[in-house]
Amino acid sequence: MSRSRVIAGNWKMHKTPSEARAFARELLAQLGGAARPEGVEVVLCPSFPALTAVHAEIERSGLGAWVSLGAQDLYWERQGAFTGEVSGPMLADAGCRYVIVGHSERRHLLGESDEWVARKLRAALESGLTPILCVGETLEERRQGLTETVVSRQLETALEGLAAGAVAGVVVAYEPVWAIGTGENATGEEAHRVIDGVIRSRVRARFGEEAAGRLRIQYGGSVNPANIGEFMAYPSIDGALVGGASLKVDSFTAIVAAG
Ligand code: G3P
Repeated sequence: MSRSRVIAGNWKMHKTPSEARAFARELLAQLGGAARPEGVEVVLCPSFPALTAVHAEIERSGLGAWVSLGAQDLYWERQGAFTGEVSGPMLADAGCRYVIVGHSERRHLLGESDEWVARKLRAALESGLTPILCVGETLEERRQGLTETVVSRQLETALEGLAAGAVAGVVVAYEPVWAIGTGENATGEEAHRVIDGVIRSRVRARFGEEAAGRLRIQYGGSVNPANIGEFMAYPSIDGALVGGASLKVDSFTAIVAAG
């Protein structure tokens, strides 16, 4: 089954709204200056305060058919007394089509549980957003041979109870924690083994062949223009979730071009 590829830039806590607007304008001008890579979709995920500014730049660029706005998190309630939180309807109204859920920095720095991630993923779907569900093991878990156990637990807890059709609409990002921000990326073979042998296989077993075949699965963790081709060489890998390299126009456009 052929799947579109999705290259997402997670800007994390970088760029004020003014900086994000200027950066997005430059990035979109460079992306628009070349032909759209066949079957590739781009998602830009700025911080909450910058969402409106970046959305305006995407609209202005005329690239909205293949460049989408994404958020980095959401809360699972639609509204209420949840100081500081942002709901799915707010993100959708701001122009988001995607939202990252369960990023390892929120799991390990901010203590988000698998159960919280599951509630956030469901809230994203209910708000009409495509969740980018992050899963991945820590270095210690890898050393203990727990990669499959951890990734399977995170995946299955997040997808528990969903209909197969909904699962097909989720994007999963395999992001080994030990590869995030370290410059030490997984090899293409390692990423393929987890993406195909664990994630896609588990979805196939739990939700059937069609859901497994339609599910888009990215790799994330020190992706850069020099190594993106190694991951894209595997048909099982449907794109990348990019951190540091997404904050540089030339690097991110090179990664998109190789997508
Ligand atoms: O969400 C993507 C991010 O965690 C990867 O970061 O800097 O290793 O590309 P980086």
